This record gives sequence, structure tokens and C-alpha cells, in this order.
Amino acid sequence: MTATEERPTPMGYGPMNRKEDARFVRGHGNYVDDIVLPGMLHGAVLRSPYAHARILSVDTSAAQAHPKVRAVITGETLAGLNLAWMPTLSHDVQAVLATDKVRFQGQEVAFVVAEDRYSARDALELIDVDYEPLPPVVDARKALDADAPVIRDDLEGRTDNHIFDWETGDKAATDDVFDRAEVVAAQDMLYPRVHPAPMETCGAVADLDKITGKLTVYTTTQAPHAHRTVYAMVAGLPEHKIRIVSPDIGGGFGNKVGIYPGYVCAIVGSIVTGKPVKWMEDRSENLMSTSFARDYHMRGEIAATRDGKILGLRVKVIADHGAFNGTAQPTKFPAGFFGVFTGSYDLQAAHCEVTGVYTNKAPGGVAYACSFRITEAVYLVERLVDVLAYDLGVDPAQLRMRNLLRPEQFPYESKTGWEYDSGDYPKALRLALEQVGYEELRVEQAAKRDRGELMGIGVSFFTEAVGAGPRKHMDILGLGMADGAELRVHPTGKAVLRLSCQTQGQGHETTFAQIVAEELGISPDDIDVVHGDTDQTPFGLGTYGSRSTPVSGAATAVAARRVRERAKLVASAMLEVSPDDLEWEKGRWFVKGDPAASKTISEIALAAHADLELPEGVEGHLDAACVYNPPNLTYPFGAYVCVVDVDAETGQVKVRKFVAVDDCGVRINPIIVEGQVHGGLADGVGMALMQVMAFDEDGNHLGGSFMDYLLPTSMECPSWELGETVTPSPHHPIGAKGIGESATVGSPAAVVNAVVDALRPYGVRHADMPLTPAAVWRAAQGDPIRT
Ligand code: CDP
Repeated sequence: MTATEERPTPMGYGPMNRKEDARFVRGHGNYVDDIVLPGMLHGAVLRSPYAHARILSVDTSAAQAHPKVRAVITGETLAGLNLAWMPTLSHDVQAVLATDKVRFQGQEVAFVVAEDRYSARDALELIDVDYEPLPPVVDARKALDADAPVIRDDLEGRTDNHIFDWETGDKAATDDVFDRAEVVAAQDMLYPRVHPAPMETCGAVADLDKITGKLTVYTTTQAPHAHRTVYAMVAGLPEHKIRIVSPDIGGGFGNKVGIYPGYVCAIVGSIVTGKPVKWMEDRSENLMSTSFARDYHMRGEIAATRDGKILGLRVKVIADHGAFNGTAQPTKFPAGFFGVFTGSYDLQAAHCEVTGVYTNKAPGGVAYACSFRITEAVYLVERLVDVLAYDLGVDPAQLRMRNLLRPEQFPYESKTGWEYDSGDYPKALRLALEQVGYEELRVEQAAKRDRGELMGIGVSFFTEAVGAGPRKHMDILGLGMADGAELRVHPTGKAVLRLSCQTQGQGHETTFAQIVAEELGISPDDIDVVHGDTDQTPFGLGTYGSRSTPVSGAATAVAARRVRERAKLVASAMLEVSPDDLEWEKGRWFVKGDPAASKTISEIALAAHADLELPEGVEGHLDAACVYNPPNLTYPFGAYVCVVDVDAETGQVKVRKFVAVDDCGVRINPIIVEGQVHGGLADGVGMALMQVMAFDEDGNHLGGSFMDYLLPTSMECPSWELGETVTPSPHHPIGAKGIGESATVGSPAAVVNAVVDALRPYGVRHADMPLTPAAVWRAAQGDPIRT
């Protein structure tokens, strides 16, 4: 059965077609750009042509004179409102519209509000900005050089481009392990700057009602409640007078977590003109100025015994954070969850140091389909294991099998302090190797090598840490990371579930209804899932880092269980028995030993609203809510094997086969899980083989369109072959772990390992992403590192 065929609705978990597809496949999605309000004006952003330049003057007079222009907003205008700078998600500040300098190409300099989009764009051409170009910092590895230009001279006392130093693990113990190790393998590698590139670009429609004083912002955000709070704090507006509506979203992938200057300008535009103002960026703007991901220059070392027992890891990273430190991660973790770089292996000690620096590039550092830098961490360790296998001359799959954590070690505390909740790693790797036919592939490869043909087999194993996060050590901008769910059961037994998380295409309207169905026996078709409107939903920090199922999914299950317990009291009154005499079967409470004496959940719901004398503890209906503070993250994992053929003449890589075995605990909807994995695998192929946000030495952005910044298509992707193991999370109410990003996290290393393996006859031990034909060819000539 394919995903598009009709299938019966399951009363709980199981394959179910997505409820939201009814509108999506008919073209009835409602995106920000579909929103049209009476009298709405249109905004456009003037952007810097320079990566680094002083602003000498901004002359807006000609633009103001344009007959269709209603307002021109500059940094000076905003400074008058104390809005020229806004906080970033990492406790830095970012210019909304530049006043003193521009610090990356594409930075926002002015905002025009006009009667239509075309006039707004035309008027941008009429703004005259006088710049004095300054030397830019493009290479993060040179950002701390003594003669590097200081980018953030707006920050008091700042004399260099240093942002932070962060370390984790035990340095002394790690050095000791390395001193004693028989073998040490080291490798420099770059996880290049990439971009989430969602199908829908970012935008907002801001509408300030001057009578009520209420500001409504329809916007592309993965975190509506967090946006509302930040707007309240920045603009000094009362929070209850702000409503953020995040309608259908055409992909987020981390790109829509932060607040962009365009959103703030649309709001100011509405305040200034008294009309609703729409701002939608175009593709180039999205690629040039919204949040990038990765950009980690890493040096990793792995210590082992000569017979292949991994002992320790030592890592140094230079993290390129762009012109403003706008990375998204919990406050305590400036390098996100990179601390999970010890991966899936049983080792004695580990230590890493990360230094964050400013460069003249767009800010961001978002968790692009990953839990706060885990993609970088997994790539690093999985490359190092392959480098070690290369040096030792052993099979990389066997080396992994020998060193994987064993099932009896869970819950496992990693050497950097993370408590992995559960797992059976060898089982997943064995399954993946069997499924791909690993032994046979190695035989085929040997025969091909004899004939001078290049074939590679790449293995990766990953552990993710998703579901940020426990309030005791996680917050974003001081806001704790608990999430809410409210479940209302109507008198007729239908229900509405209100969530603080925000879907961007992951199918929440289906799977969250399935969680309620599983707990209460109400059909998912009878449960409406409401999200993306701060006036309609409980507070929570939104959807990124695969946190929806681990946090909001748990909140949903707990709220449903509270409904069930309340229903039990009502049923006991209806059946005139003690609650202790009742037993639950999906959809009804019945009397123990007398299954015919029962009340269904809809009978109970009606009774709770009717004239039944309610028992103590029931106020009048079944509704319940939960704010869920997760006790730990959940730790999905997986084993991936990629097979490639490489054309020695052209450097062209063909991904021939890809087996992905994922374990995300209990699967709510297996076909949605599959879809999530398919998307992530395609992402991985894109990053491994074709994507990089490149800059020239003047800081000019070289990837401003999809002609330059390449997205993988079905031509580059094989027919994915999936497998699964199920290790329920012991602390999650339904045993589920996140899945949304596993494949993006785990697959790039598998692809790169495969390509490097194919190039082994050329003595290639490592090659940096993206492995474009030119890079593969260069690596074969002995030049594997991107510079
Ligand atoms: O936070 P985000 O929705 O991006 O990621 P997620 O929590 O991993 O969920 C992605 C989608 O997969 C959602 O529709 C989940 O309900 C679904 N899922 C599932 O069916 N079973 C799981 N064990 C995990 C997620």
C-alpha cells in the first residue's frame, strides 16, 4: 500500500494517511503569503552589497517621493523607537536595520512600505546609501588573528572577534588516555556552512489594531509563543496584546526558529502606517540572509589499541557564527549538543574545546534538521572511526561493532555527561549489515577494484539526543523548555487538542490525534489538533530539534490519561460501582468480571456534561491539560549503510543503495516516520555531495539561488531501503523518541565514508564535503581538504 491510498483509520498507533493532506494535495494550504488583509501594504528590504562597510549616509528622499510609497524605515527611524537592535537567541544583539556598519552581504539596511510589492521593490532602487568598504573576515580560522578587522565594534570594549570558549569532558583523563594509546589517528575536517532552504521562504503579515491595541502577526515561525514573548520584551508591548499566528508552514528545518529583521520591520511598518504590512522574502534573500547551519572547522583525534579498541576522543573546533551570535540552542550550551560527539561508542575519556568567532557572514547557526549541532558531532566521530579503520587496516563495520555500547550499559552516562536512555546498538548495526548484504558487497567491491572500478561502502552509526529539554538545565533566552497540551472532550465524545508545538509539514495533525486515540479510544478522525496560534494554544517553545514528540507528545499522552482518569470517576458514578472496580479497555471503562457493564468514552463525556450527579474530583467535564517538563532527552539511534559508484574520470558519485535502520522507540505512525527518514536521507545526500554556502575572499555570497546552492532531487537519491528496531524510551510516557531529524544527522557520514572508501585505491583517507565531482577528482589527486 502506498502513502496515497485509502487506508482505514487506526484507533491509535499505526499507518494512517495524513489528515492535513486533504488540504495540501488540493492546493488549499494556508501559508503566510496567502494571507490578504483589507488595506494591506507591502514591505521590501534594502540589503547591503558589502560584507563589511561603514555606512556614511542613507538618503531616502527619492524613495519617499515615490507615489506609491507609504513609509521608508531606516536604522535611524528604529533607533528613535529603541528598536534598531534586537536580542538574538544566544544573548547577543543583532541590528534590525544597520546604523553604523554593515557586517555581512545581504544585511538589512532599510525597509520600504508601499501599496504593492512591485512599488516597494522599485523604491529600494531609489535609496542612496554611501558605504565605506572595510576589509572583511571570511575565514573563521583567521578571525582571531591579531590583524583581523574587528567586526563587532558596536559591543563595548570589543577588540577582537572572539565570542566564546566552551569545553566539555575531562581534559586530564583524555590526555592520559592519549599518552598511553598504541594508536592515535587525527584528522582535520570541515562541516561546511549549509542552509536549511525550506520550500517556503520567511515572511510576516503584521497588523496593529489601533483601537484595541492588539498586534497580530501572521508569520513563518516554528516557535510562535517564544516569538510573542520576545516581541513583548523587545518592543515593550503587553504580551496579551500580541497574537502570533503561524499558519501552514512550507518547511522549517530550523530556518524559522529565530526572529528576522524583516518580521520586526513589518511590525514597525504597521505601527507607522496604521495598516497591515506584508513582508515576504524572495529565494535569494532567504539563502543570503537567513540562518545558516554548521560551519564547524574541526580537528579530531581518536585513540585506540592496536587491535581496535577505541579509548578516547579529543576535539578542537572553530565555530563560525557569522556577524551576530544568533545560534539557536539552550543557553548553557553555546556549542549546542555537540557534547554528544562521543557518539555511540564505549570509550574511557573524551574532551572537546569549541571556540566561537564572528565573521562577516549571515548570523544563525541553527539546528538544521538536527538537535543543536548533533549533526556535526555525529559526522566528526563517524569520520574518525573510519579514519582509524583506515590506519589500522580493519573493516569499518567490524570496528564499530567491536566498540558500540552494549545493551546492558543503558542507561549509559557518556564521558561528557549525557545520560543515554536506552538502546540496542549491535542489533541495529547487524540488521543494517544484513539488509544491505554487506559481505557480498565487499566481495563485489574487491572484484571491481581488480578491474579498476571505484565502488565504496560507507557505514555510519549515530546516537541523537532529542527533546530539549529538561527545565533543570535547558532554556532558550531564559524561557524553560516545558511544553503544554490541552485536551477538550466535547459532550458528543469528539475532541480538540491544543498544542504549543508547531508543525511545518511533519504531520502533527495526524500523529498527535493518534496519541489521543491510543489513550482514549476516540478515533483520530474525531480529534482536531490546533496549533500555531498563541491565542488558541498553551505556552511552549515550539518545534525544532525533533522535540515535538518527546515533549509535546508526552504532554498529550499525559493530558489524555488525565481525561481517562476523570472518565473513570464519571463511569463509576454512572455504573454505581467503586472506581477501583473498573478496568480500562481502549474506548471504555467496564466492571471487572462483568465486561458487559461498561460505559464508552463518548457516553461518559455526555454524562459529564449532563445532569448526572458528579463524583468528587470532577468539576463538570472531562477536559484536562498538561505542561510537560521532560526528565531527560530521548536518544534515538540508527545504523546506515551507503553504497556508491564513482566515475574515476569525472569524479561523479552515484548513490546506488542506501539502507537505513532507525530506532525511534515506539512508532506512532510508521508511514510518517518513513517519510521523515526519506526526507532526512535526501538532506544528507545533498549535504554530502552538493551543498555549501560559499563566499569569495571579499565576503561575497556565492550561493544566492538554487542554480548555485544545489538541492538533491530524485535523480541523486536511490530508492531508500528502511529497517527498524524498537527500543522504547523508558522515561517517555508512550516510549517514543524523536525521528524528524535522525536521517539528516546520520546520513552525511555514511555517504562521505562511502565515497572515501571508493577512493581508497588513490590512498584517500579523508575528503571534505561537499563531494562534488570537482572535489572528488581533487581528492583523488591528493588534495582532500576544502580551503
Ligand atoms: O519535532 P518534530 O515534529 O520535527 O519531530 P518528531 O517529534 O520526531 O516528529 C516528527 C513526526 O514523526 C511527527 O508527526 C511525529 O508524531 C512522528 N513520530 C512518530 O510517528 N513516531 C515516533 N516515535 C516519533 C515521531
